[in-house]
Amino acid sequence: MIILNWKCNPDSEAEAISLARDSDYDNFTICPPYLFISVISRILKKAGLGSQDAFWSSGAYTGAISTKQLAESGVKYAIIGHSERRINFNEKAGSISQKISACLTEDIVPVLCLGEIGLTGPEKAKSIVLTQLKTYLRLISAEQAARIVYVYEPSGAIGSGKPDSPTKIKAVAREIINWSEKRSEARPKIFYGGSINSRNAGTFLAIPGISGLLVGGASLNRSEIRKLSLIHE
Ligand code: PGA
Repeated sequence: MIILNWKCNPDSEAEAISLARDSDYDNFTICPPYLFISVISRILKKAGLGSQDAFWSSGAYTGAISTKQLAESGVKYAIIGHSERRINFNEKAGSISQKISACLTEDIVPVLCLGEIGLTGPEKAKSIVLTQLKTYLRLISAEQAARIVYVYEPSGAIGSGKPDSPTKIKAVAREIINWSEKRSEARPKIFYGGSINSRNAGTFLAIPGISGLLVGGASLNRSEIRKLSLIHE
């Protein structure tokens, strides 16, 4: 599966509708800005629908969108803890764990972003990811954790045109697998994200332990979308 993260794009509903129509392939899950989720949910026939974040409660939380509202609008996946939210919106582990737990309650699959800010060597990356797993998943059971999609996405590889090295990604994926298998029998689903395009997608999907991709920039480009739609794991 390829998850398309539109981030804060496009600017108008008309453009969002057109982009969604051109991205409606069954190997994609599309994560538009909240504003366009309802209209896009009525358009998609093949692609899955996701959100770029989710809040854990309804009620007096100005500006928030709850997991309940998202589930009602047909959202099946929610990106949680993206590094852009950690960096620009000061998102911390406590809120990430509450969001994961609320998503699972509403049957929304958390697409949990893990990885260092910047780009470190493999040993440091593994230890950061391990700490994130321990803190982010502290509110849920091993069975619940089996429903999560983990994304290894170091912030330094995002939008840089330089994805992280396959050897390092393989080592980090192995660390996530070891940790999950120690907690439960389930084999975790692990994706990679950071400067993926149609030319390099095959290489990253071939990394042992990696079964999907999170794509930002290329998800806004029609020719990239068409080529990525042909890629199946
Ligand atoms: P990118 O973004 O594909 O533009 O590097 C990925 C992401 O931030 O999810």
